[in-house]
Amino acid sequence: MGKFLVGLIVGLIVIPVGVYMYFSTGAAPVATASAPMPFEKMLAGLALHARLRKEMPKPSPIPADEAAFAAGAQVYKDNCAVCHGLPSQPPTAISLGMFPKPPKLMEGKGVTDDTPQETYWKVTGGIRMTGMPGFEKQLSPTQMWQVSLLCANADKLPPSAKNILTATTAPPAPTPIPTAPRTMTK
Ligand code: HEC
Repeated sequence: MGKFLVGLIVGLIVIPVGVYMYFSTGAAPVATASAPMPFEKMLAGLALHARLRKEMPKPSPIPADEAAFAAGAQVYKDNCAVCHGLPSQPPTAISLGMFPKPPKLMEGKGVTDDTPQETYWKVTGGIRMTGMPGFEKQLSPTQMWQVSLLCANADKLPPSAKNILTATTAPPAPTPIPTAPRTMTK
């Protein structure tokens, strides 16, 4: 019993102090190029999957057809390609400098093994502390479903969607942030 108490007290003090020291002395990695923290990947994955199970949205309200893929390809090009890449194009400097690395979604397996719902859930809320943005307030639900259907079917897209992804037209000018309309009365 005595040994147990000593162990308990030591555990209660030593572990929190150790964790505090790890962060306060600069031992924890901060730069994107540093190695992951111990258990970082495991804990982040655990939290993500637990939350996903809790909040999984209903299946897509729009069909996975050619029109959805084409619209999704445009959404992808405008909002996702900078990090997740385009077919047969080199990765951008931005994506190479990130930690964790954004996976390629239009080449290889991507997220074709995930349901569109799972991808939709990630697109709406983003993934904290990874650089994956949440698009809930920036894209409409239809746009988020279109891009999620695109990602889920990235290995079997029709030529129309592929053409949009590979077309090398100049990127559209960034949408100006709307400002309050100027009133010309005076
Ligand atoms: C600023 C960079 C960035 C942008 C822009 C971005 N993502 Fe991500 N995304 C990431 C990173 C980094 C990860 C990896 C997160 C992780 O490891 O948990 C990620 C992860 C994902 C995942 C999960 C991948 C997996 O293997 O489970 C999906 C799906 C995804 N992003 C879809 C999108 C879509 C769709 C868009 C555009 C609407 C988008 N992302 C825009 C950086 C980005």
